[in-house]
Parts: sequence; structure tokens; C-alpha cells
Amino acid sequence: MEKSSWSSKTVAVAALIIVVTALFSAMSGRLGAQPSSASARALATDSSGNGRRIYQTRCAECHGDSGRGDGSAAIFLMPRPRDFEAAKYKIRTTETGSLPTDDDLIRSVRQGLYGSAMPAWDSLLTTAEIQDVVEYVKALSPRFKSETPVVVDLGAQVPSSPDSVARGSQVYEKLQCRKCHGSDGRGTGAVTTEFQDDWQQPIAAADLTEPWTMRGGATARDISLRFRTGMSGTPMPSFKDSASDAEMWDLANYVVSLGRKPVWSMTAEEVQAQYAREEADAKANPVKRGRYLVETLGCPLCHSPGDDKARVLPGMKMAGGLLIRVVPFGDYPTGNLTSDKQTGLGGWTDEEIKRALTKGILKDGTRLLPFPMDWPSFANMKPDDINAIVAYLRTIPPVFNRVPPPSRTFLPFYLWGKFKMLILQDDPPILIYPGNAGVTTRG
Ligand code: HEC
Ligand code: HEC
Ligand code: HEC
Repeated sequence: MEKSSWSSKTVAVAALIIVVTALFSAMSGRLGAQPSSASARALATDSSGNGRRIYQTRCAECHGDSGRGDGSAAIFLMPRPRDFEAAKYKIRTTETGSLPTDDDLIRSVRQGLYGSAMPAWDSLLTTAEIQDVVEYVKALSPRFKSETPVVVDLGAQVPSSPDSVARGSQVYEKLQCRKCHGSDGRGTGAVTTEFQDDWQQPIAAADLTEPWTMRGGATARDISLRFRTGMSGTPMPSFKDSASDAEMWDLANYVVSLGRKPVWSMTAEEVQAQYAREEADAKANPVKRGRYLVETLGCPLCHSPGDDKARVLPGMKMAGGLLIRVVPFGDYPTGNLTSDKQTGLGGWTDEEIKRALTKGILKDGTRLLPFPMDWPSFANMKPDDINAIVAYLRTIPPVFNRVPPPSRTFLPFYLWGKFKMLILQDDPPILIYPGNAGVTTRG
């Protein structure tokens, strides 16, 4: 028995190695035959080869071999790594639509982008190496050959003072920052709560009370630059000529004043007070709490259909239809959680939704396995949190997507699968298929 289970595993591993090797050689064959124009261009400018070498060893895993932001780690990251071919940069000292300066790029590489996966490289690379890799990155886009960055003039800095901060809060109203960042900088009362970047990837509007998450730094000058230049490739607009230089500085001083201490630099009492505030906030604003829980518990990861790079199909977030095959139990396409009356949760009562979440029983009485959806853990949530989740789900705009019910494996195949699992100790896979298992046309 021992022996046979070993040999079946060895065969499986060997088969996997063959498949992976074949895939790799097929891929490298393709890349070798047709080098992307971007990397060819970058190679031509990088005479020493230093930039390329550093890029390939340090950056490609996230930013991709040809710089399109599609490295092997990319699908796990939010926000996704920058696409250097598009050359849309967030952290600039330059006019909206303009390229960043070399110093802007060097700063981002040296310091990293706080609150994202982009590491700070200053302790790992020398100044010269950072310059070389930045040259290589620039050469990945043709724009750096033909365009010159235009640095924005911020006018004379207004030092912070209670008066300046008070004036700044008026400017915050006037320029309608609250529409996206909320009346308190933390999203309370925001009109828009879902954001995507130019690559249809979800991103979040910054929480202005958490300065340590600001990609480009949190001094008055940093903040002032962000709203005067905009963050290219994202919905964060540029407020170029919307107010006088002095008003812009007042606004920056106001945003700095919203910043709170991070939990790790608080005293024990401060931490307790912070958590009490958060709890009161959750009670007062269940939809916001529900949204937070849904995003952090990963509901959209399963309940949104994706493409072969695990990118949510456009407009289909939470519309269900991701097909999850749990061998040997069956196929479990995820349900449509939008508020659509016919195909989503619009036709479910609150109690039915809660029963699905905490007991794994669907509206029609179908009982779910304890996986892939981990409802036995959800059952341990506090009632307030379950209610908050339901409250948030109710706010998701309807998307018509008729998802078929789960289907169990045909009995003989199921028994064979069970036999393999229990007797041959063959761990069954959970497979996730790209595309939508639902039907989006009515009738
Ligand atoms: C672990 C993943 C990871 C690695 C490794 C990595 N980056 Fe990044 N990088 C990111 C992410 C994620 C972003 C986008 C952050 C955002 O959009 O807020 C980014 C953004 C950038 C930006 C854009 C700044 C802007 O203004 O928009 C530059 C430039 C950059 N990276 C350069 C590099 C260089 C050069 C290297 C190698 C020395 C590197 N990165 C390595 C994840 C990574
Ligand atoms: C249309 C929606 C929208 C409006 C209006 C808006 N923002 Fe933003 N803002 C965003 C989004 C989205 C991000 C996050 C971008 C990212 O992470 O890539 C952001 C990010 C920021 C950041 C973080 C910068 C960093 O370094 O990470 C600051 C500061 C900021 N906004 C300030 C403001 C101020 C001040 C105003 C008003 C003048 C304003 N925003 C108006 C959507 C908006
Ligand atoms: C690991 C994948 C996965 C995760 C994570 C997940 N679900 Fe599910 N969910 C499923 C599957 C599979 C089903 C059952 C198939 C179906 O819906 O018919 C399901 C069913 C449901 C149903 C019943 C709806 C219906 O039409 O069948 C609700 C409601 C639901 N999930 C809510 C949630 C919420 C809320 C979260 C986050 C707290 C969540 N799910 C997280 C996979 C997942």
C-alpha cells in the first residue's frame, strides 16, 4: 500500500514536471521568436546591460519581463504593479498628463510606494544601480524619447497654522474632495465608493486619516503635489487651476491635519480608544462595515468571474459565475450576489441570505459542502457583522447573470474519486475555471 501510493505520487509529480517544462519551453520559444518592441527598445538604450540585469533580477517578477505590469506575482497584488509601457505614473512633480522627471522615478524606486507592494530599494541597490534601472524602465515606453516632463509650480508654501487648516477645510468642500474621500477623509458619506484604475483593476480611494498609506509620502508638499498633478491611470483627478496657490497650500495643511497615529505608535489606552471608535463607527454605518468585511473576507474573489489572469471580467464584480470544481464532489459555480431581482439576491429575504451564509443552505434548500465557501467559519461572526454584510450586499447595483445551481458528481465517478482519496491518498484538486458559468442574456 505504502509503495503503490508513493509510485502514484511519483508519476503525478513527473507528469507535472513534464507539463511545466513543456509550457516553459513553449513560452520562451514564443518570447524568443518575438521580443516585445518595448524590451527591444529598452535593450538598445541600455548599453552596459546593467539596467536590464537589475530589472530582470529585481523587478520583473512583479512588473513583468517586458514591463507591462504582468509579472508572475502581479495577480496577487492590489494595486497591480505599474505597466511601464503605458508610462502613466502616479507620483510626479509634473503637470497632469506629463511624464515624471528622473528624480520622481528615482525617488519612487529608492523609497518605495508606501501602502503598496512596491518595495523601497535604497538599502539593496546603490545610487548608480537605481539610476541604471530607472533608465531601463524609461526606455520601456517610447514617450520618454519624444516628450519632456513639465514641472509644476506650487507657489510659495503657506506654513501650517490653525487658520490655514480652517481655510483648507473650506477648500476641501469647494473642490468636492468629499465626493470620493468622504466628509471626514475616511470615506464617510462618499458618493463614489468603488474605483478602478485604467487597467480595470480595483483600487481604493486613500483614507486621508492614514498618512502611512500614502504612496507618495504625507508631507504638505507631497499631498499638495498629488492633488495638483493628479495620479495618472487612476480616478484621482488633477486639481490644477481649481484654486489659488495659497488655497492649495491651505488644503494640503488641512489634509495633513486629518492624519492620525498608526496603531503601532499608540499607547495601550490610545489603541483601546481607537478600537472603540471603530466599533461605534461600524454600528453607526453598517453598510461601510459590511463593505469592509466583504472585501477583507474575500467574497469578491470567489463571487466574481475572472479571465485567465484572474482579472475580474468587466462589470461582473460580485455577479457570480466563477466555476469552482471540487474533485470528486462536483461543480460549484458561485452565486450572483448583486441586487438583481431575477438572478441575484434581490429576490432573497434577509433571513435567506443569512441562512446561506451561516448554515450553507441556499434559497431552494440545497445544502452546500463546508467548502469551497467556508460558511462554518462565517457562522461564528457576530450578528451585527452578519447584518452589516447583508446591508452592504443590498447596495450592490443589479447585474443580470443567471448562474446554474451546483451540480454533484455522477455517483460512480464520485465513489471512484472517494476511493482514490481515501485508499490511494490522492489529494483531490480544487480547480477554478476562467470565464463566466452564468448566462447574461435575458429570456
Ligand atoms: C513585489 C512587487 C514589486 C517589485 C519587486 C517591484 N515593484 Fe515597482 N511597483 C509595484 C507595485 C504594486 C506598484 C504600483 C503601486 C501603486 O500603483 O500604487 C509599483 C510601481 C512602481 C513604479 C511607479 C511609480 C509611479 O509613480 O507610479 C515604478 C517606477 C517602479 N514600481 C519601479 C520598480 C523598479 C525599478 C523595481 C525593481 C528595482 C520594482 N519596481 C520592483 C510592485 C513591485
Ligand atoms: C473622483 C474621485 C476623487 C476625488 C474627487 C478626489 N480623489 Fe483623492 N484619490 C482618489 C483615489 C481613487 C485615490 C487613490 C489612487 C491610488 O491609490 O492609486 C486618491 C488618492 C488621494 C491621495 C493619496 C496620495 C498618495 O500618495 O497615495 C490624496 C492625498 C488625495 N487623494 C487627496 C485628495 C484631495 C485633497 C482631493 C480634493 C482636492 C481629492 N483627493 C479628490 C479619488 C479621488
Ligand atoms: C472560496 C469561494 C467562496 C468565498 C470566499 C465565498 N463564497 Fe459564497 N459561495 C461560494 C459557492 C461555491 C457558493 C454556492 C454556489 C451557489 O451559489 O449556488 C456560494 C454561495 C453563496 C450564497 C448563496 C447565493 C446563491 O445564489 O447561491 C451567498 C449569499 C454567499 N455565497 C455569500 C458569500 C459572502 C457574503 C461571502 C464573503 C463573506 C462569500 N460568499 C464568500 C463560494 C464562495
